[in-house]
Amino acid sequence: MENQRSNFSSKIGFILAAAGSAVGLGNIWRFPYLAAKYGGGIFLLVYLILAVTFGFSLMIAEIAIGRKTGVSGIEAFGVLSKKWKFAGLFAAIVPIIILPYYSVIGGWVTKYAVTFITGGMAQTADDAFFGGFISGTSEPIFWFALFLLLTAAVVFFGVEKGIEKASKILMPILIILSVTIAVYSLFMDGAAEGAKYYLIPDFSKFSSGTVLAAMGQLFYSMSLAMGIMITYGSYMPKDTSIEKSVRQIEIFDTGIAFIAGLMIIPPIFAVGTPDMLEKAGPGLMFVSLPKLFSHMAGGQIVGAVFFLMVFFAALTSSISLMETVVSVFMDKFGWKRKTTCLTVAVGSLLVGLPSSLGFGLWKGIKILGMDFLDFFDFSANSVLMPIGAFITCIFVGYVIKPASIIDEVKSYGNSFKAEKLFSVVIKFIAPVCIVLIFLTGMGIIKL
Ligand code: PHE
Repeated sequence: MENQRSNFSSKIGFILAAAGSAVGLGNIWRFPYLAAKYGGGIFLLVYLILAVTFGFSLMIAEIAIGRKTGVSGIEAFGVLSKKWKFAGLFAAIVPIIILPYYSVIGGWVTKYAVTFITGGMAQTADDAFFGGFISGTSEPIFWFALFLLLTAAVVFFGVEKGIEKASKILMPILIILSVTIAVYSLFMDGAAEGAKYYLIPDFSKFSSGTVLAAMGQLFYSMSLAMGIMITYGSYMPKDTSIEKSVRQIEIFDTGIAFIAGLMIIPPIFAVGTPDMLEKAGPGLMFVSLPKLFSHMAGGQIVGAVFFLMVFFAALTSSISLMETVVSVFMDKFGWKRKTTCLTVAVGSLLVGLPSSLGFGLWKGIKILGMDFLDFFDFSANSVLMPIGAFITCIFVGYVIKPASIIDEVKSYGNSFKAEKLFSVVIKFIAPVCIVLIFLTGMGIIKL
């Protein structure tokens, strides 16, 4: 089985693909907004500490499980312990839920990138533009289908020729584009105030809420607890150091999030509307930012570059989601990659339709008071992901024991410097924190 599995051909290919999964919409719109809201520098600090302890340990665990077993998330738990086969189910379900609606948002981003590139900035700056666009029927579905098709095209060609190649091209472009925009932003008149706000810790804003927000963001941003890193780990060359790779992926993920803050927050101050920071989610990226660009000298070009970059980031993330889903079906039913890929693409199109239509034609339909997209997002990120992460920690901490992961990390003569930290986090700290995130996410406790 293991021999037939495709592999990343190089260390850097693996790291770029995993980083490509991690760096996505979460880094570019979610992180800057959270950082601003939760006290700027203090949020950064907390996030960083959590990334190198909590995020680090979970990612090590997932990648090591994947490489050790050589199978994707749905099978890996069962291979290690028969009784824990059910745990794979969580890992498999989460990406199946996320892929369709993530692609709906990916479609919006594609539309914005194309609109900016073709000189349509002025329309996007109009208050009614975004609402008008997403409430349409055929247009959002067209962009959604296009985004899904592009994702499928890469996954279709497999790990080495598709994902690895695409990541090797897209990730460096992403870095160059984001640094360029950040530098541009910092040189705008009045940007210094925003940079101060973002970078200098405001200790009065520290609360347990800061920690929880940072932790929730960390999960999403590092693509943890949904079988993605298990699947990518299963493709990882045996002699590559897991510890070093995880460090590098983290630097990538946190680095891009940090730079996204520099891209977005200072110009908001420069244009003089700090209240934009309060507008989380779609608002900030699709409504406020185009306004911002329309005030900037050369905004048309900066905006085009920006949305192109977000498009690349979203694409590499959706590739990882689709690859995970495809590998689940391939492993489970023994289907061929190409057939599976087409089936998953068509299936995701159908499952994603309600998320797309939920802002227009099906606006009246609510599940638990949420529109379709929010509902899928909530079920995946606030319910299933914490459960999946909790199960992973208990599984590693108490069933297969940290030692088995440590052995895998240390195989082929590699070192594992943070071995002790890993064991303590996975056994004690992470499970407790995850339960807290879960209970706050569900609104059961308030911190
Ligand atoms: N990590 C991605 C981001 O930051 C989001 C993502 C979530 C990707 C789940 C894959 C799976 O946007």
